[in-house]
Amino acid sequence: MSAADLADRIERLRALFPQAVGERLVEGRTLASVDLAQLRRLLGPHAADGEADGFGLHWPQRAAAAAQIASPPAGRLQRCPGAGLDEATTRNGFIEGDNLDVLKLLQTGYAGRVKLAYLDPPYNTGRDFIYADRHGGVRRGAPDADRTRRHGDWLSRMYPRLALIRTLLADDGLLAIHIDEHEQPALTLLLRELFGEANELGIAVWDKRNPKGDARGIAYQHESLLLYARDAATLLARQPLRRPKRHAQQMLAAARTALAASPTLEEARSRYRAWLKSQPQLSGGEAMYWRLSADGRVYRLVSMAWPNKQAPSAEYFEPLIHPQTGRPCPVPVRGWRNPPETMRRLLDTGRIEFGPDESVQPQRIYYLDENLYENVPSILPYGGSDDALLRTLGIPFDQPKPVDFVAAVIGWCTGGDDLVLDCWAGSGTTAHAVMKLNAGDGGRRRFLLVQRPEPLDPRKPGQRAAFAFCEQHGLAPDLAGLCR
Ligand SMILES: C[S@@+](CC[C@H](N)C(=O)[O-])C[C@H]1O[C@@H](n2cnc3c(N)ncnc32)[C@H](O)[C@@H]1O
Repeated sequence: MSAADLADRIERLRALFPQAVGERLVEGRTLASVDLAQLRRLLGPHAADGEADGFGLHWPQRAAAAAQIASPPAGRLQRCPGAGLDEATTRNGFIEGDNLDVLKLLQTGYAGRVKLAYLDPPYNTGRDFIYADRHGGVRRGAPDADRTRRHGDWLSRMYPRLALIRTLLADDGLLAIHIDEHEQPALTLLLRELFGEANELGIAVWDKRNPKGDARGIAYQHESLLLYARDAATLLARQPLRRPKRHAQQMLAAARTALAASPTLEEARSRYRAWLKSQPQLSGGEAMYWRLSADGRVYRLVSMAWPNKQAPSAEYFEPLIHPQTGRPCPVPVRGWRNPPETMRRLLDTGRIEFGPDESVQPQRIYYLDENLYENVPSILPYGGSDDALLRTLGIPFDQPKPVDFVAAVIGWCTGGDDLVLDCWAGSGTTAHAVMKLNAGDGGRRRFLLVQRPEPLDPRKPGQRAAFAFCEQHGLAPDLAGLCR
């Protein structure tokens, strides 16, 4: 936190507890000072001296980790003219350094500006990849006492970084972080504490479709993606998390083809339906769009029954009148889902389909061309973690995220010129995904990447090719050079 940020926060504290904030003379300068004893008195039973009695996540070095949030950064940001591409016009950034210091330095210019922090930290697997992934110096399978040290060390790294990332997020910003079974329990508790449970948007399971071979118990074939909003109400009011229905365009095209090739609407309908049946890749929800309207639009029908246990008021039981027979149609046993004014609007706009006569319960029409997006489900099947580009370039980088998967996640919640931050950049997949998304939809999203210059050792077989690649391209032989 910068001195200016701290001063600002103390002033906010003064506004809330004026009796607890005064002034003190320190080395000839007048500084605002917080009277902790007074603050404790003002807080009454809400004051606590330690965390031991409270509900939460505790580890031995927690207080020292918390102190890092406010301690000054080592170093400063320095431009490197000539090191980038399109330097005069680019709106992207790449910063070399330890992300703790960088995140502190970014507080001044970037607080509240990041739309998405897309994060893939070391998982603490106890292995050494091209980057170190062993915390507290503890190997996999170590005894429990050592594991306490290992989890504690990892948490001590994550805690200040995640706290600093949170303040960089815009008020409609989002944090998406990958993790596997080693630290998912601890990370979930930590994020719930830092962001508040109300801002948890869910934990998605990335089904990698291939169980690990070295299982000690359950053979994991998934990783997790944890999502937290800086402020869920603001984020969801502006832009709910959504993804394009994967095959919608293909389905619309098939319907157009069927209509063009058929002399009658009936024939077009059966052609389109036959095509849908021959497409096993369609999701269950997509396959429901098997109908063609009289004006050639693809649609599905959905029941309009009241979904909750508690019965609605009497007006929700008003029958709809069949347009041809003039008789009332059946009302769902629990009543309609919508109040009468909504039902009227749906009728007026042609969004309700009646059966051939009044014996059939009317249903709601959803047109595919108006419903091209869907909610993001909690299970995301996507095999493997290899990135074909790195393989083509001949660079071994352990466990890069698949660029299409990353692009899909970024696409759920960004658009326009949103800023995406990745401060565990690795091979730079996030930058690649941002550029790929922009190329696809004409967006102007920007990225800001941070990577520590961990040296590459040509004597280690796993790092030799990456070292040679850096040398060949005039890049520093370290992970920051490789990412650049
Ligand atoms: C799991 S990898 C990220 C992989 C990346 N998502 C990709 O697709 O290539 C984590 C990366 O964070 C880097 N890293 C670890 N600690 C760091 C720190 N304190 N500051 C900056 N980078 C760090 C590691 O060097 C490693 O490259």
